[in-house]
Amino acid sequence: MLSLKNLCFLAAVAASASASILPRAGCDNPIVETDWVDVNGNLVKFETTHCPSTAIQARTNTLNVCGVACTNTCNSDAGTLPPTTEDCGMIKNAITIFQQHSPPSFVVSPSGNKTLSFKTCQFSFVNTGTSDLEYCYTDLSATAGRAGSACFPPVMPLHSEGLCTAADRSFNVIAAHTPGSS
Ligand SMILES: *[C@@H]1O[C@H](CO)[C@@H](O)[C@H](O)[C@H]1NC(C)=O
Repeated sequence: MLSLKNLCFLAAVAASASASILPRAGCDNPIVETDWVDVNGNLVKFETTHCPSTAIQARTNTLNVCGVACTNTCNSDAGTLPPTTEDCGMIKNAITIFQQHSPPSFVVSPSGNKTLSFKTCQFSFVNTGTSDLEYCYTDLSATAGRAGSACFPPVMPLHSEGLCTAADRSFNVIAAHTPGSS
């Protein structure tokens, strides 16, 4: 049975900012909202982070970037291993289920991100620009899926991350090996 189980929705200040060598958007003490989607007993995490500094700034109108093209590149910023195809597939399934009950898009503020993760795999939409960006779940599924297909086995050499970067560099869509997972 497929069901959406909203186990918890919380706003919490992360207790510790994990050290990262990655030159990507982010901030200390992000505000994190977490939802869980149940796919046949497999819980997929939907997490949105906002940076406190940008949350209080007056901003221009939200830009909708659903369908905006981006360019794929591969790297190993997320370690040595790729995620498994099955774990990434579970995220795609979760998006399909979530979509039956929820708005088709989400908004991410500058330096924030939306990250969906299951075991070894995570899909992210990262706002690397200066405006609030609205993005569609179906695009996250398709674009992160393609970013993974371009970089993960059977594609060689091994990469841990597939990145799709907008031409104006305002956002990245990422498929990556989940940090700290084995
Ligand atoms: C999402 O934001 C958090 C908090 O700033 C950061 O730790 C994490 O690395 C970000 N994820 C991605 C994929 O950029």
